[in-house]
Amino acid sequence: MTDASVDDRVVVEMKDVHAGYLPGVNILSGANLVARQGELIGIIGPNGAGKSTLLKAIFGLLNVRSGDITLNGESIVGLKADKLVKRGVAFVPQTNNVFPSLSIEENLQMGLYQNPKAYAERLEFVTGIFSELGKRLKQRAGSLSGGERQMVAMSRALMMEPSVLLLDEPSAGLSPVRQDDAFIRVSDINKAGVTTIMVEQNARRCLQICDRGYVLDQGRDAYEGTGRDLLNDPKVIGLYLGTLGTDAA
Ligand SMILES: Nc1ncnc2c1ncn2[C@@H]1O[C@H](COP(=O)(O)OP(=O)(O)OP(=O)(O)O)[C@@H](O)[C@H]1O
Ligand SMILES: [Mg+2]
Repeated sequence: MTDASVDDRVVVEMKDVHAGYLPGVNILSGANLVARQGELIGIIGPNGAGKSTLLKAIFGLLNVRSGDITLNGESIVGLKADKLVKRGVAFVPQTNNVFPSLSIEENLQMGLYQNPKAYAERLEFVTGIFSELGKRLKQRAGSLSGGERQMVAMSRALMMEPSVLLLDEPSAGLSPVRQDDAFIRVSDINKAGVTTIMVEQNARRCLQICDRGYVLDQGRDAYEGTGRDLLNDPKVIGLYLGTLGTDAA
């Protein structure tokens, strides 16, 4: 799906990134990625391929050993998460992404700790996308369903008005109907102009909605292309989509 709001400016770029957790063990071993202004980028690949690690590397949560990661042309290697938030990057991790003992409202306020004055305006934006949350602001996040928690997590990330949103498996653990809903919300966020990099285990659905996708395998980008091209690429179908890629859209 191409969108009029996409332009050629490179917002995030990873070049030949090597990174890992334990000394001498690289999980990312030559990863490349480009996200242009307004793009929705999908990242798929087998379990353990390093998808979550790739998002963590962008968000300064592990050491990049070689290669470079840039944001609007400037290297962000070595910058910690709080600095990245100030530069407009938001991250929704795969798990533990809400504060369960806090209300929805308090979760949203936590998202805005660097700019509390903007609360009313940002609340209006996020409840425009996630209208059901606006009616339940006092409810404890721990009492919500998985899908609702995912909405709180995305809303919290959007409170700082990010220009780049990193999403790790927004549809994980949701029923098929809820999964569809999660993908629609991600599209809505992206259409509002937020450059979005989304990791997904629901590969077919992810490729259907993204502008471009990357298949990550063993810490490298094995394939890159438009969502449509990847969905129809026999090698990608055979190795990563199974029969899913041949299903009717
Ligand atoms: N904190 C950590 N310390 C050491 N190794 C880790 C850590 N987190 C992840 N790994 C290892 O890094 C590799 C890649 O993990 P990662 O979570 O990035 O994969 P993934 O592609 O997101 O997988 P999944 O589809 O299961 O979410 C795995 O071998 C994993 O065991
Ligand atoms: Mg993961």
